[in-house]
Amino acid sequence: MLIEGRQQRSIWFDAATDQVCVIDQTRLPHDFAVHRLRTLDDACEAINSMRVRGAPLIGVTAAFGIYLSLRENPASLETAIRQLRATRPTAVNLHWALDRAVRDLSEHMPTGVPTEIPPEKALEFALDLAEEDAACCEAIGEHGSAVLRRLWQERCGEDRPLQVLTHCNAGALATVDWGTALSGIYKAAAAGVPLHVWVDETRPRNQGGALTCWELRQAGIDHSLIVDGAAGHVMARGLVDVCVTGSDRVSASGDVCNKIGTYQVALAARDNNLPFYAALPVSTVDFDWPSAAEPILIEERDAREVSIAGGIEEGGANARVRQYPEETVVRNYAFDVTPARLVSGIITEHGVYDANQNSLAALAGN
Ligand code: MRU
Repeated sequence: MLIEGRQQRSIWFDAATDQVCVIDQTRLPHDFAVHRLRTLDDACEAINSMRVRGAPLIGVTAAFGIYLSLRENPASLETAIRQLRATRPTAVNLHWALDRAVRDLSEHMPTGVPTEIPPEKALEFALDLAEEDAACCEAIGEHGSAVLRRLWQERCGEDRPLQVLTHCNAGALATVDWGTALSGIYKAAAAGVPLHVWVDETRPRNQGGALTCWELRQAGIDHSLIVDGAAGHVMARGLVDVCVTGSDRVSASGDVCNKIGTYQVALAARDNNLPFYAALPVSTVDFDWPSAAEPILIEERDAREVSIAGGIEEGGANARVRQYPEETVVRNYAFDVTPARLVSGIITEHGVYDANQNSLAALAGN
C-alpha cells in the first residue's frame, strides 16, 4: 500500500535489528506507529490485542512469532505453536499457517537433536509466507477488479460510479499487502473504474471507520462512512450496486464466516437483489469444516470493547469513555456465518468460484 507516497507493508522484518515490525492498528487512524516484536510473547500480544488483525495477517505474524521463539530456544516449536494457536480461535489462516510451519520446519530437524530447529529456517519460512500472501492478495485483486468492472458496465452503463459496500477491514492492513475485498477495489480504480465505497463502521472495534476509511483515503478512493445499521437503508435506497467483504473462514460448502454484522449485510443484499461477494485466499477455505450446519468456534471478546469507547479528545489526548454501566451484560461476538445461499461468489487468487461444494472442491489442495 502507498502511505504518503511511500510503499508500505503491514508487517516486515528489520534485518538490522533482527526484529519484526508491524503497523500498530490500535493506533490508527489518528496515529501511524510502528510496533516492534522481539519475542514470542510480543507476537502473541500483538495478535491478541489486535495491533495486527485480519485473517491473513494473523497467519503471517504467527509465522514470524515462531522465528522469534526459536531464536531464543531452538527446541521451542511445540510451545510456540500452542501459545500462538490460543491467541484467536476463528480465523483459520492462523491454524493453516501454524500447520504449514510444523510440516515445513519438521523437515529441518537435524537427526540426533530431534527437537531443535535452526531459527534461520523459521525466518525463511515466515519471509516466504509474507511474500506469498502479498502475491496472492494481488491476484485476488485482479479477479475482484474484473467482477467490479463487469458490474459497473452492467449496472451503471458506465455513466456513474459503481457503488460498493464493504464491512470491517479486508484491506492491505488485514494482509501483508493489497488486502482481499479492497484489493479488487484498488485494482479496479487503477484500471479506470469509477467507484464510491460505503464503509460500515463495524462496531465495536470500528475496523471500517478506523482502518478501511484510512486506507481508502491514502489510496484516494471516494468513500463514505456509515453506521452498521445503515447498510440495509442505503441498499434499499438504490445507493449500492454490490457488497464485497473478506472472510476469516469459508466452509467446504461456501458458507462465509466473517466479522460480526456480515450476515446482516448479506441478508439485506439478497432482499434488495444485490450481489454479495466474499474475497479471500484459498488458505481461508477450511475443507475440514463441511458446512454452516456444523457450528465453529466463534470468538467472544472482552465486554469492555463494547461498553468503553476509545478515541482522542479534541486536543489530541487519548481518551476512553465508559458508555454503559458495568452491570450491563454484554455478549461481544466477533464473527458470524453467512450461509452459502446468500453468497453470489467467492473471489480467490485462482478466480471466482460459486459458493457450493462442487465448485470449491476444485480448490482443495491448492
Ligand atoms: O477481528 P478482525 O479485525 O481480525 O476481523 C477481520 C475480518 O473479519 C476480516 O474481514 C477478515 O479477516 C478478512 S481480512 C482480509
